[in-house]
Amino acid sequence: MRVSIVSLDNYLKGFFESEKKNLMQNYPGLTLHRLRQDINLHAFLHGIDSEEIFDFPYLPHRTHPLTIFFEKLKEGVPLEYITGYAYFYRSIFKVTSDTLIPRSETEILVELASQEIKKNYRKRPCRVADIGTGTGAIALSLMTEESAALSIVASDISPKALKIAKENYFNQRYGLSNIHQIDFVLSDRFANITGEFDLILSNPPYIKREADLKEVHPQVASFEPHLALFLDDDSYDQWFKEFFESIYQKLSTTGVSLIEGHEHHLEHLAAMAKSTGFSEAVVIQDYTQRNRFLKLKK
Ligand SMILES: C[S@@+](CC[C@H](N)C(=O)[O-])C[C@H]1O[C@@H](n2cnc3c(N)ncnc32)[C@H](O)[C@@H]1O
Repeated sequence: MRVSIVSLDNYLKGFFESEKKNLMQNYPGLTLHRLRQDINLHAFLHGIDSEEIFDFPYLPHRTHPLTIFFEKLKEGVPLEYITGYAYFYRSIFKVTSDTLIPRSETEILVELASQEIKKNYRKRPCRVADIGTGTGAIALSLMTEESAALSIVASDISPKALKIAKENYFNQRYGLSNIHQIDFVLSDRFANITGEFDLILSNPPYIKREADLKEVHPQVASFEPHLALFLDDDSYDQWFKEFFESIYQKLSTTGVSLIEGHEHHLEHLAAMAKSTGFSEAVVIQDYTQRNRFLKLKK
């Protein structure tokens, strides 16, 4: 007969108490409830019963998925990288160490894009570009949200990230209307992208590698892909100047571009965008009143 020495709940409470300081440092705002949810998700994805580990009166094997879960938690690995999944907008996205974990503030970018589509594209398909798609979070969430037809190009410079975006599309495809169409393109910004777009969306890397580093949470700098986060300080302006010039070329005359950016640099980038030729370059705040997005019109 099996003897249950401790339930998952009891083990979790003990773990939470003993590791509290460490956990709060690496996972600010983490609750026991969220941890329990993620453990259950992790167990489900590995086809195991989350109570199973606690059903034996001896320590589980080191390779057991739940043992690995708790070890990684002690190391400070983001929960999403441990489970391999992140919640964004209305869906669950696969994430790996090659992709940024999609952030809740980026959901506002999806909302803003969706407002543009609802206002202007009831009668004809909206041509959308999502530059630096990562997991595909922005592009796929728009496809989930919109009933008006979308023709999307989702691109990334990272082949590994693009593979994950395609996998997320594959996983979500039955929940998406087949009125939409999406192509995945490997590209440095617009280098391999042809055509004109009504909506150009991007959450590009926007942290200055040196000047902004002290404000980056150590967990982010240690575990998330630097390609998704950082640009070199001395080529930062040049990178965005070239990006704005390409956006200007690729945007239709009535089109809109929405770009996520760094709260300290967006005003400066707005001025740069204006000097590129955009008639409108407006900084939009997020729900915490921080400068977060740039809206560009020709
Ligand atoms: C901040 S992440 C955003 C990922 C995703 N769009 C999201 O919001 O969760 C930036 C993404 O841009 C990609 N990237 C970096 N440099 C790029 C470039 N020059 N051209 C295209 N994509 C780039 C990275 O690989 C990464 O996936």
